[in-house]
Amino acid sequence: MNTWYKTFIYALTAALLISCRGETKSVAADGDRSVQYFPNMYESAGYETYQEGTVFENNMEAQKPVEGTVSRGWMPYDYENSNEGYASAKANLQNPLPYTEENLENGSVMYGIYCAICHGKKGDGKGHLVETEKILGVPSYADRPITQGSIYHVMYYGINSMGSYASQTSEEERWQIAHHVDALRRDLQGVERQAFVKSGEVAEPIAQPQDTTMVSSDKDAEMEEAPMQPQEIEEQETETQTDGQ
Ligand code: HEC
Repeated sequence: MNTWYKTFIYALTAALLISCRGETKSVAADGDRSVQYFPNMYESAGYETYQEGTVFENNMEAQKPVEGTVSRGWMPYDYENSNEGYASAKANLQNPLPYTEENLENGSVMYGIYCAICHGKKGDGKGHLVETEKILGVPSYADRPITQGSIYHVMYYGINSMGSYASQTSEEERWQIAHHVDALRRDLQGVERQAFVKSGEVAEPIAQPQDTTMVSSDKDAEMEEAPMQPQEIEEQETETQTDGQ
């Protein structure tokens, strides 16, 4: 009786296993299951980014941004990479950052990282790569008629054997470096450096065009007439901070 019972159990188990094998013919060649439980877990209703599609003309789901789109936090640079662009940047482009100790300090750090290896700590064109004759033709800043605009321009596009620094540095960092390079040029030429602007004194960092025609004595006189109260400055600052930056 016992042996019959055992044999029966073995036979039943074997029969069950075989029955689970299913119809091999209906299994697709690439190994997909023939039956899908919860099919929308395999085939999602959403479109894949690079999937083929019939909605757009190029039959692809991914589309390019609309022409003229500017990504957040990035400002287009209006000057072309040409001699005219260089000349125009040199003449017109102004440093939008105030000449504060903080900006100069950060510019000096960035300069040490990216530029000093060729231009030298002092900007005299005697960096490590020049001393070891790995690169030639690095000028002293004293020997080039550079402006803040032209300094920014060559950092953006590079010039001859000097490469572009647009991908390593942010716009703000480039302007901070420009302040530092301009300060180095003044030191080399024996020209006095700009006077620092204290962070609290600048409500609007972009240079005000109406100030440019004033001679300095007029400006001093006017400033004496109407000294700004700290409270007023604070109010101005909060007005200008609209974009949360
Ligand atoms: C690999 C070496 C090298 C590095 C690094 C380098 N430069 Fe230069 N730079 C040059 C050479 C070479 C020239 C001269 C190019 C020419 O006019 O032929 C030059 C020229 C310049 C000029 C003068 C351009 C003009 O208008 O005449 C400025 C300003 C300048 N570099 C700034 C910088 C700043 C700022 C950095 C760092 C962000 C930097 N450079 C990094 C090699 C370098």
